Amino acid sequence: MICACENIYVRFLFYREGELKPMDAEQLRECAHKMVDFIADYYKNIENFPVLSQVQPGYLRELLPDSAPSRPEPLQDVLDDVQEKIFPGVTHWQSPEYFAYFPSNSSVAGFLGEMLSAGINMVGFSWITSPAATELEMIVLDWLAKALKLPDEFLSTGQGGGVIQGTASEAVLVVLLAARDKVLRRVGRDAIGKLVVYSSDQTHSALQKACKIGGIHPENCRVLKTDSSTEYALSPELLSEAISQDVASGSIPFFLCATVGTTSSTAVDPLPALGKIANSNGLWFHVDAAYAGSACICLEFRHYIDGVEEADSFNMNAHKWFLTNFDCSALWVKERSALIQSLSTNPEFLKNKASQDNMVVDYKDWQIPLGRRFRSLKLWMVLRLYGLENLRAYIRNHIELARKFEELIKLDQRFEVVAPRNFSLVCFRLLPTQNDVECANRLNRKLLDAVNSTGELFISHTVLSDKYVLRFAVGAPLTEERHVVAAWKMIQEKASALLMNS
Ligand SMILES: Cc1ncc(COP(=O)(O)O)c(C=O)c1O
Repeated sequence: MICACENIYVRFLFYREGELKPMDAEQLRECAHKMVDFIADYYKNIENFPVLSQVQPGYLRELLPDSAPSRPEPLQDVLDDVQEKIFPGVTHWQSPEYFAYFPSNSSVAGFLGEMLSAGINMVGFSWITSPAATELEMIVLDWLAKALKLPDEFLSTGQGGGVIQGTASEAVLVVLLAARDKVLRRVGRDAIGKLVVYSSDQTHSALQKACKIGGIHPENCRVLKTDSSTEYALSPELLSEAISQDVASGSIPFFLCATVGTTSSTAVDPLPALGKIANSNGLWFHVDAAYAGSACICLEFRHYIDGVEEADSFNMNAHKWFLTNFDCSALWVKERSALIQSLSTNPEFLKNKASQDNMVVDYKDWQIPLGRRFRSLKLWMVLRLYGLENLRAYIRNHIELARKFEELIKLDQRFEVVAPRNFSLVCFRLLPTQNDVECANRLNRKLLDAVNSTGELFISHTVLSDKYVLRFAVGAPLTEERHVVAAWKMIQEKASALLMNS
């Protein structure tokens, strides 16, 4: 709490002599310092919060007024409300006890980049609107492409290049649109009903959404089945068969989405074989490595994206496991003209000499919205302030922690590891006392609820081959071995209690 005179001072900062001063350098300095202190304290105390918010739906409406204030309020009052009313409804993704879904990293470097981007607050849709924003994005994505050893065709120096999308969902949407329009230019736009998309049943639902938006009929989406025999990876034989059947029936195969590190179990689709099939059948080949792409900056994990040479587009989320604050999804394409032909518009009010002379990249033509933030600052900060060697060590540490967690599971006969651990995700379940799938699923659902309702850790689940499976994803920047060991102890305790009562 601060004293009343400070309260008056902070109120005065925002509202002086009846005049609103929305941007004042000294006011910014004062308030932003206060905010940084607040956020630094948040990180210091993050372990004291329940990692998974325990509030009930609608909790906030009871705590906040019905309408906006007509007079300015002190910043401290707002921060007090954040502490008392907002934080209870926050799930703390940066908590070291966060092991759910996939990570969404924050870091000092990412935070500073985000802050700078908010500070500059430009809208860089065309090169002219802020040349540095476009050029830094091109350079930083070339750096990252080189760190991942992507083929040179993905670099901005050739016909391709990288672009920062908000999310992997936007990435797959824009490349699907590019691929759709490319094939329709060849076969005629009336053929849209014949276009077919291929993926596995492990592909992220972002592809399904992209198909809905892109006008691809659900019955033209071939969702090829996977199982434990291929470790949940897409089978090239199944793909070939499906394509042959579609061609024979007069359909037009045009898009394949493969995944490196599927969301459920981090399965890795065999890119070399799939890519060859895609290329020989004229399909656009997109590789979604939203989570696992980060690991491929390490030489020992780079082999997971062998075959990316065959791809037309490749995507990884730097905001997942690469210390870059949300949002920052890196997408590379080999043929940028395909994206531009699909997404470019050129209204009079945006015309300018640099664009008209074709001298520059205008990223508005590589994405859905017009406006775009200076997101490359975050990635640039991360790469510069940490350096690739530290980033590799960071990834390796999480993978090692996940390996230790897996070892702990294997020492307890009551549990089983359900899918191979390729990166930092462990899929496991508690075995039922009788061999009954439904009973096992109920037991694991109860275990998940029991663990998550403590607020002491947060894990999530999936279903693999009809089995309800628990997912333990290491990847929060503050997670250490002691957190992993404590998490396992808590899971074991809850399992013991459940088994005793079942
Ligand atoms: C493999 C994969 N692809 C796509 C996505 C969607 O990510 P986004 O939220 O960036 O759209 C996810 C999310 O976890 C994912 O794991």
